[in-house]
Amino acid sequence: MTDAPAAPAVEPFDVVDVIRAKRDGHRLGDEQIDWVIDAYTRGVVAEQQMAALAMAIFLRGMERHEIARWTHAMIDSGERMDFSALSKPTTDKHSTGGVGDKITLPLAPLVASYGVAVPQLSGRGLGHTGGTLDKLEAIPGWRADLSNAEMMAQLESAGAVICAAGSGLAPADKKLYALRDITGTVEAIPLIASSIMSKKIAEGTAALTLDVKTGAGAFMKDEADARELASTMVALGTDAGVRTVALLTDMSAPLGRTAGNGLEVRESLEVLAGGGPADVVELTCALAREMLEAAGVRDPDVEAALADGRAMDSWRAMISAQDGDVDAPLPTAKHVEEIHATEDGVVTGLDAMGVGVSAWRLGAGRSRPGEAVQAAAGVEIEAHIGDRVRAGDVLARLHTDTAERMPRAIEAITGSWTLAAPGTAVPARKIVKDRIA
Ligand code: URA
Repeated sequence: MTDAPAAPAVEPFDVVDVIRAKRDGHRLGDEQIDWVIDAYTRGVVAEQQMAALAMAIFLRGMERHEIARWTHAMIDSGERMDFSALSKPTTDKHSTGGVGDKITLPLAPLVASYGVAVPQLSGRGLGHTGGTLDKLEAIPGWRADLSNAEMMAQLESAGAVICAAGSGLAPADKKLYALRDITGTVEAIPLIASSIMSKKIAEGTAALTLDVKTGAGAFMKDEADARELASTMVALGTDAGVRTVALLTDMSAPLGRTAGNGLEVRESLEVLAGGGPADVVELTCALAREMLEAAGVRDPDVEAALADGRAMDSWRAMISAQDGDVDAPLPTAKHVEEIHATEDGVVTGLDAMGVGVSAWRLGAGRSRPGEAVQAAAGVEIEAHIGDRVRAGDVLARLHTDTAERMPRAIEAITGSWTLAAPGTAVPARKIVKDRIA
């Protein structure tokens, strides 16, 4: 942990001047940025003042140099991890999040099976996209909280660690993110990019692969915005000496056929056993190749590592090291209801947002930080894009432990399928839209 600098006897700036400067479209100076982040962390800059500054940044934007300085000021607000003592190279990934995005689960052990260390500091979900820790907590016994020493030991032994990020990494971001969440300032590209990259750079990985999602179920619905976010983050990582690449990926429809914690673990196990839905396998393999190439592994045959059980062995080592019972059955929900097709047709669209909100209302996600989630709740999709259906066929199964949650979950998912006349050709879904380096 870095020692916090002593607070100055007299503050060198007036926060109102900083707010006015950005409000009027000026570039903030390096010292202004360093001070405002530090003073906000110390509580000298009030929440209302930071809210005004965040809104000014949302409306006026920031130049590349300002974003980099802002990111580094947030890194300097806390501790930096150091993996240089490990005997293996480190490589990590970050996804901007989406419905059914369970990719970290098969990806981390797959990459670790090549002798590369994957330190995945993850979070819990809020809203319609699930958190990786919530998914893994569906496994009996598994624990998310590890000390730094446990994390290092596991990186050496199992290769992959997925655990909760400690409160010491970029505390300024933690405070600012909570404020942005309640002031309509989350969607500012400079603030998103600096928030994600401050944590990833502070985490100390040598290489980073970003999965930036775009489409109805993504944070960045518009592709041009997603592209700008991706290139901003790649520039921040590269400038900080982290080998950073971004894949721009489709989130117009859910990934795979499940959304919900235990259901997504089950689907991930199918992928680790060499099966699973084609879109989940495609994205897992595309990200694994990027992460491995960045760590110096040339032309890895990642499909073979899924097919021959190497990735599954690595999963078992990773889960057992965190006290998870790899052989225990996953929890099942008390109530399951089916959604049926009302006409014949071929599925040409499946709205990720409808599925995500339904899973959330079933109890898979939370509305307030700290709320408990249901391990077995979620949506199992029977009819996905390209599938042929007849009236009466099952489109999806909804799972929950709380029967009263069912009506609103059904309401959210109803109308999520777009059907065309039987026989209509459906173009193959392109999951990876672009690579930004
Ligand atoms: N995730 C983050 O960590 N920060 C943001 O600002 C948005 C998504």
